[in-house]
Amino acid sequence: MTVSCGLTGLLLSSINLCPDFVLAYPSPLVGCIRTVKTTTWFEEHLTEDNQEYMRKSTAEEYRRQMAEKLNPLKDEPWPRHEWTEGTRRVGLVAVKLGMAPIWTKTGERHVVTMLQVPDCHVVKHLSKEAYDGRTAVLLVGGKNVSPFHRSEEEMDMFRAAGVPPKQKVTTFKVSDDAIVKPGTPLYAAHFRPGQYVDVTAKSIGKGFQGVMKRWGFKGQPASHGQTKTHRRPGASGPGGDPAKVFKGKKMPGRMGNVFVTAYGLKIWRVNTKYNVLYVNGSVPGHRNCLLKVKIITHTHTHTHTERSVMSKAKSACLVF
Ligand SMILES: *[C@@H]1O[C@H](CO)[C@@H](O)[C@H](O)[C@H]1NC(C)=O
Repeated sequence: MTVSCGLTGLLLSSINLCPDFVLAYPSPLVGCIRTVKTTTWFEEHLTEDNQEYMRKSTAEEYRRQMAEKLNPLKDEPWPRHEWTEGTRRVGLVAVKLGMAPIWTKTGERHVVTMLQVPDCHVVKHLSKEAYDGRTAVLLVGGKNVSPFHRSEEEMDMFRAAGVPPKQKVTTFKVSDDAIVKPGTPLYAAHFRPGQYVDVTAKSIGKGFQGVMKRWGFKGQPASHGQTKTHRRPGASGPGGDPAKVFKGKKMPGRMGNVFVTAYGLKIWRVNTKYNVLYVNGSVPGHRNCLLKVKIITHTHTHTHTERSVMSKAKSACLVF
């Protein structure tokens, strides 16, 4: 009984969804398999007019919420503290725009990546006890999206903070003097030129690749009797004594599409009008991907002078 009900529901929803598909393939609708179970499809229960109306009203609602958040004094703000040694500030969610060259006043050329910070808000605060007993965390979301692709739990979180649903939400560990009230908007001006950041994003997927591309193996000679072994790995380990291939042996396989962090990138410039950060060098991910930008906490990649520059740049601003 339940099965047949489910099937009818499926058929009805697919007819609503894709009339062209139904006309073209009147017999069993095998292609319309629904995987997201917790939300409704945008088109599922809405007529054309309603869709139009929803689009407009949602956009208006988002604008209203965003404008409201510009006035943090309306509902009591949480106390703000001075920066001290050991303060760990919250970071941002940004979108990668692309790369460009910039020149310093002395004529040095640098390559930078432009990261835009769109609709970035603090979404939730988890206290020490609620998180892991050691650090408090802030959840930060970026880039407003349709509410139709968020689960009900996520929507509850966004409603509690009074912000529109976000495409990406990430967690930042923060020190006790750097806790920011949920709903606070964050901008590119959160960082200052001269600071160093770590940028995390999912790298571009390369698919199944051989050892030369995936691990930088040298390959084998092009001539002198090589037969069909030019880009192949060769031997994979000694025979005889271990008589096995050691675990972790570099082999062909899936490459990319994993989270990668670029450490210690200097911020050369901050555009406060369009909320763009110009960070040194390249960052992982494709254009338009969403990234996590975190202020640097460890300095193993830097020299002594750079470190002192960094701490000066840090101390020049209020914790926010
Ligand atoms: C900028 O990035 C380049 C390439 O990644 C690197 O060689 C250079 O040291 C970086 N400069 C600074 C100031 O971080």
